[in-house]
Amino acid sequence: MAAEKNLKWWQKTIVYQIYPKSFSDTTGDGVGDLNGITAHLDYLKKLGVGAIWLTPIYPSPGVDNGYDISDYVEIDPAYGTMADFENLIAEADKRKIKIVMDLVYNHSSDKHAWFLESKSGRKNPKADWYIWRDAKNDGSPPTNWRSIFGGSAWEWCEERGQFYLHTFAKEQPDLNWENPAVRQALYDAANFWLDKGVGGFRIDAITYIKKPAIFSDGAPDGKDGLTNIHFMTANTKGILDFLHEFKEKVFAGRDIFTVGEANGVAADELNQWVGKNGVFDMLFEFSHVNLSLKDGEIWCRPTEWKLTELKKVLSDSQAATKNNGWYPIFFENHDHPRCVNHFFAKDAEPDKAAKAMAAILLTLRGTPFIYEGQELGCTNVAWDSIEQYDDISSHGQYDFALEEGFSAAEAMEFVHFFSRDNARTPMQWNGKKNAGFSTGKTWLPVNDNYKIINVEAEEKNSKSVLAWYRKLAKFRSEREELTAGDYELLLPDDENIFAFSRGVDDKKIITVVNFSTKKISLPEDFCGRKILLDTESKNREEKFLQPLEVRILE
Ligand code: NOJ
Repeated sequence: MAAEKNLKWWQKTIVYQIYPKSFSDTTGDGVGDLNGITAHLDYLKKLGVGAIWLTPIYPSPGVDNGYDISDYVEIDPAYGTMADFENLIAEADKRKIKIVMDLVYNHSSDKHAWFLESKSGRKNPKADWYIWRDAKNDGSPPTNWRSIFGGSAWEWCEERGQFYLHTFAKEQPDLNWENPAVRQALYDAANFWLDKGVGGFRIDAITYIKKPAIFSDGAPDGKDGLTNIHFMTANTKGILDFLHEFKEKVFAGRDIFTVGEANGVAADELNQWVGKNGVFDMLFEFSHVNLSLKDGEIWCRPTEWKLTELKKVLSDSQAATKNNGWYPIFFENHDHPRCVNHFFAKDAEPDKAAKAMAAILLTLRGTPFIYEGQELGCTNVAWDSIEQYDDISSHGQYDFALEEGFSAAEAMEFVHFFSRDNARTPMQWNGKKNAGFSTGKTWLPVNDNYKIINVEAEEKNSKSVLAWYRKLAKFRSEREELTAGDYELLLPDDENIFAFSRGVDDKKIITVVNFSTKKISLPEDFCGRKILLDTESKNREEKFLQPLEVRILE
């Protein structure tokens, strides 16, 4: 047990991500709220959850569903009150569950008081709290950078006669981290939440906070003549100085965890970001979820990838965090399609695919992050027209696809596969009206499959995806090999089987997953071992794996 003891609480638990707007509505306004989360804490406890990451619940105009914050130290009335939040913390605490907040510090909302003051003229106390630049001589924006949601990353401001920079939507102006007063205001806000008892932070879009000293045009990468801002500003030299200060003034010495969202940090730079000499405990990096994207960024016909590539990128991340830092394991979040549709062949049976992914999620080395509904095997939606989509990036990517010459039908195909709304439809609690999420008109339609995929039905079925998640979570909590054990990839060249071992001393657990939709033979070495958990006990054949079968072996 020696290895186990050295692990911190958050390395031995499971984190559950909640998209509050879609989780549970107690007021009937069609939008989820904090009391809805509190009401379901026992459900999460049963899943083995020790921390809940809430996507932003601060006041926000909602252009990017809360990632455009207009007050960093308040609760959005749509979600409840500060008292509701304190109650959530207290009730979660009783169940040994920590609440983890999302810090969105690269940008605020354009309705934040700081921005309203900053834009009011060139001379005011907050004049340089955001990134302002003059137009080029011809009046055009200072550079040809394209924002992540599409269109120029610069927006003209009449009052100042200048442009401001926005990495995301124009309603999300970038904060100027070069200004020490800005940094201090952000640290103060984070400490405010720590004083309320939160158990950690997920830190949004953090690789964009440092901008290059000189702003210059990039080579156009689209017919719009613009260049993706990501390649111009992500992970700019000097960023770690800011982050070390952030750590020192906020996180250092606290019994919390931090996980940075860090698109643009390569595996060989990881040890400067996480672990002993780094700034965060964990980093979300996207190499596995980006395999299907064109240039790792653009929504297009999903790029084909092989299982060996998925295994390689995941194994690289395992290797990079073997001796330093820790890995946050995830296959879904509020920005990605449902894993059943994302990672498996079109003919994969959804519940089998969901179970196959669950086995990998809950037996890899790191802290597993379950996204709401993933534990039920939720799937994507496919609405007819772009107008039915709420997600701002679905609109930007759709327009970009049209500009690039794709037909409307093709652009819709890309939206169906990649839209962030796929993961944002209301939580499916039961087979009744609105899936039991709300009594009112829901802010986003419920997925049509809610009569079959829902908590109530799955709790009654011992073979459901939910039952499998609960079984795996319990198993993980009981086996030191699965928390502390080393990871070793087995059969690296096999295009059907994802197999790996987790070992401590001479104890080893082996996960074997048939990732394909064919029945395949099982290599000799895996036959005859003790089966600890599996998905096909009825149809099991000693020397074969059924489509998507999972076996966890000793
Ligand atoms: C990453 C968040 O996960 C996403 O939902 C958001 O749109 C962007 N950052 C901008 O804050």
